[in-house]
Amino acid sequence: MKVSVIGTGYVGLVSGVCLADKGHEVVCVDIDPKKVDRINRADPPIHERGLDELLEKNIGTHLRATTDLATAVRESDLSLIAVGTPFKGDEIDLRYIRQAAADIGNALRGKNGYHVVIVKSTVVPGTTENVVLPELERASGKKAGVDFGVGMNPEFLREGEAIEDFMSPDRIVLGGIDERTTDVLAELYSVFQDVPKIRTSPRTAEMIKYTANSLLATMISFSNEIGNLAASLGGIDVVEVMRGVHLDKRLTPILADGRRVVPGFTTYLEAGCGFGGSCFPKDVKALIAHGEKAGSPMRLLAQVVQVNERQPARVIELIKKHHASLDGLSVAVLGVAFKPGTDDIRESPALPVLETLLAEGAKVTVFDPIAVEPLQAAYPSQPIRYAEKLTDATTSADVIVLMTRWPEFKELPSLLSGRDPQPLVVDGRRMLDKASVARYEGIGLTPVA
Ligand code: UGA
Repeated sequence: MKVSVIGTGYVGLVSGVCLADKGHEVVCVDIDPKKVDRINRADPPIHERGLDELLEKNIGTHLRATTDLATAVRESDLSLIAVGTPFKGDEIDLRYIRQAAADIGNALRGKNGYHVVIVKSTVVPGTTENVVLPELERASGKKAGVDFGVGMNPEFLREGEAIEDFMSPDRIVLGGIDERTTDVLAELYSVFQDVPKIRTSPRTAEMIKYTANSLLATMISFSNEIGNLAASLGGIDVVEVMRGVHLDKRLTPILADGRRVVPGFTTYLEAGCGFGGSCFPKDVKALIAHGEKAGSPMRLLAQVVQVNERQPARVIELIKKHHASLDGLSVAVLGVAFKPGTDDIRESPALPVLETLLAEGAKVTVFDPIAVEPLQAAYPSQPIRYAEKLTDATTSADVIVLMTRWPEFKELPSLLSGRDPQPLVVDGRRMLDKASVARYEGIGLTPVA
């Protein structure tokens, strides 16, 4: 199938590259000529494991990039909209979606034959039918359901594992305004066999996406609230609590041979310094705002956000238990990416921690295996020292704060052994054994004094 993908962020580019690898003829479209240039030179503008190889393999054969949206749309059978949908304070910002729909609509004016337009961006329920479809009709002068089809196909890609998630999907949701649209969308994904495919309406497809992300975010805030209570009560470690909870056979089923199945979602049932990234915070907030407008306030989700926003302050409180003033304190912040495996710092809980440390006069050294550049760009004039290696960051620190679960931070206990005096380690991710360092503080734990 001939496919045009509008927007080359991590959803658009990964989808485009993977669909090309599956044999479709794909054109990726972006307004930024620099990005387009890089893609055509097989130099991915984003960091995503496995993307370099796949881009290199397909560029110039099944795949190319362009800034010419109109030609890309006219020469394809189906267009995927994969532009950003940020949260603008009180609701989802649909301006890029509207613009993409208008541009595609204009291109369709000059196209003969049926075309299908699919929204892949995360949009609140109703957007595809109430915003995208009318915009397409207006700009094209054509009729949806007759001249073109409209649908919604949410993505379930985790940053860092996006290629793997796209190539081995756990579900494919096909939301079309009519059978014809859904059939074309099904054809696009026919290369993926043995995967549950849900044929549904666009608005249900939109809702599935928000519900999936909101559930995971809720599990994280739930675990954090339990952790905070454990710390307040004293003598309870949330790690042990959650270990006990995870052993419920409905969460981790027992196989006939006695082994446990440990589903991936149990890792969202662990306490820490909070969730971040480009999806959970904005999606949960957008759904809350949408519920408010619909007269159905999302009370539970509102608390999920509040618990999350307070969580970074817990890290600061743990430091202040030992150092009432941060002024002049030498603090190493380990990890600024919102999670391991990515250089994305958007909404990372490390940022409010970093800002408080700097505002209160701490001498901050940051180490992150790959997210230093985005941090430097975000804080160009702050007095942050950047360490090249983990050891450089920790050597002279009074306090070491773990903010991202990078596997290399597991080396910390051996790096610190024999050091005198011992620094305080504040584990925002509960990734170290609490007995493995001399002075340990962690979320969801009050060490017996
Ligand atoms: C999330 C969803 O997991 C994807 O299914 C979805 O497609 C994506 O959003 C999206 O809407 O585009 P992502 O934001 O890349 O993916 O990251 P996750 O790995 O789910 O992590 C999100 C947040 O949860 C991070 O802050 C992370 O630190 C936290 N998290 C993650 C945990 O606290 N525990 C975990 O076990 C995993």
